[in-house]
Amino acid sequence: MYEIGAKEVKAVKAVIERGSFFRYGGVETKAFEKEWADMMGTRFACTVTSGTAALITSLKAMGIGPGDSVLVPCYTFVSTALAVTAVGAIPIYVEVDETMSMDPVDAAKKIQRHTACLLPVHMMGTPCNMRALKRLAKKHGLLMLEDCCQAIGGSFGGKRLGTIGDMGAHSFNQFKILSCGEGGACVTSNKTFAQRAFMAMDGSCSVWPETGKMDEAFFCGGNFRTNEIATGIMRVQAKKLDGILRDLRRTRKQIQRGLKLPDDCRVIESHDEDGNCGVSTLIQADTVKRAEELQATVGPWLGGWRPINSGRHVYKHWDVINDRVGGHHKDWDCFRHPKNKKIKTNYRRKLKQSEDFMSRTCMLLIPYKSNRDKTARMLKKLNAALAKM
Ligand SMILES: Cc1ncc(COP(=O)(O)O)c(C=O)c1O
Repeated sequence: MYEIGAKEVKAVKAVIERGSFFRYGGVETKAFEKEWADMMGTRFACTVTSGTAALITSLKAMGIGPGDSVLVPCYTFVSTALAVTAVGAIPIYVEVDETMSMDPVDAAKKIQRHTACLLPVHMMGTPCNMRALKRLAKKHGLLMLEDCCQAIGGSFGGKRLGTIGDMGAHSFNQFKILSCGEGGACVTSNKTFAQRAFMAMDGSCSVWPETGKMDEAFFCGGNFRTNEIATGIMRVQAKKLDGILRDLRRTRKQIQRGLKLPDDCRVIESHDEDGNCGVSTLIQADTVKRAEELQATVGPWLGGWRPINSGRHVYKHWDVINDRVGGHHKDWDCFRHPKNKKIKTNYRRKLKQSEDFMSRTCMLLIPYKSNRDKTARMLKKLNAALAKM
């Protein structure tokens, strides 16, 4: 979260004064869903309680379940892969490319007869190679869900992330570009998926007049309903999005242009530089040792980390999946479901390309609200330190 203040307080106060917190019969949720869809450029938005809920809801909306495998990058928060298991499907790990996002070349190799969906993740504001992934999905008749939890408002080819595939999932938790503490949303322009998302989000939605007449057959949903306080905050946060991105992108550009890196280190441009949210920049070194030195040198100014060190964001640490643990009940286990028997997995195999890139890359954080002069002064000191490397 980059900004929170008086306007959000006012929005929360208004909700409390109205005394109506429920998503149905309220003001904020209905309005936010319309505004969010308009802003993202989709026909529909369905708010939920978290990014994980948005992923699960979207997968259910698209009908993903036992018998399906879903391709996920090996570098993402563990929730992306867990969402797949939550609907009874099997996650298949895909290598990441130099931009730390799903490598379309490896994705093509991982497609099996049972593959139903690509789940690319736009990590730290960086758009995936959506042109190649979209082509791949089309060629093999696969669905695509974009995990935009870390890239709210970013774009590829002028289209907002989350609107290029069939569905997009956002997170509004504390650490995301916009936040209401905990929250999320699914976006889509597919009416069937939108209606099914509402059924998955709220099993009781059929009894609420607001949801109107559904064309799709009802199924048993759960409860990932948001509330008016969260969506009241999000309506204010959403209005700040473009300003936040403009600020971050300007500073990111200045830093990328002004950094004087040693010859064995380089900026890795994303697949759509203009669409990058501006949250981070990637610097790759020739060797792991140099990447460690680089991170130690730039860390005091820009923070950040080498992705290989980001714990539960790296497939090696997804123990419950790697150990094929299954669900909360012995018979609710995607790994032992008869329909999943033919899906080949090898969670122990090392993803060499990804580990190499993740070890030699530094993911640096772009400071927010740093004006041109302040960034220039920072760059001067940082470049002096880099010159000694
Ligand atoms: C890439 C990614 N996907 C999914 C999630 C899950 O979002 P949430 O914490 O809102 O459930 C996160 C959150 O950290 C994330 O970074």
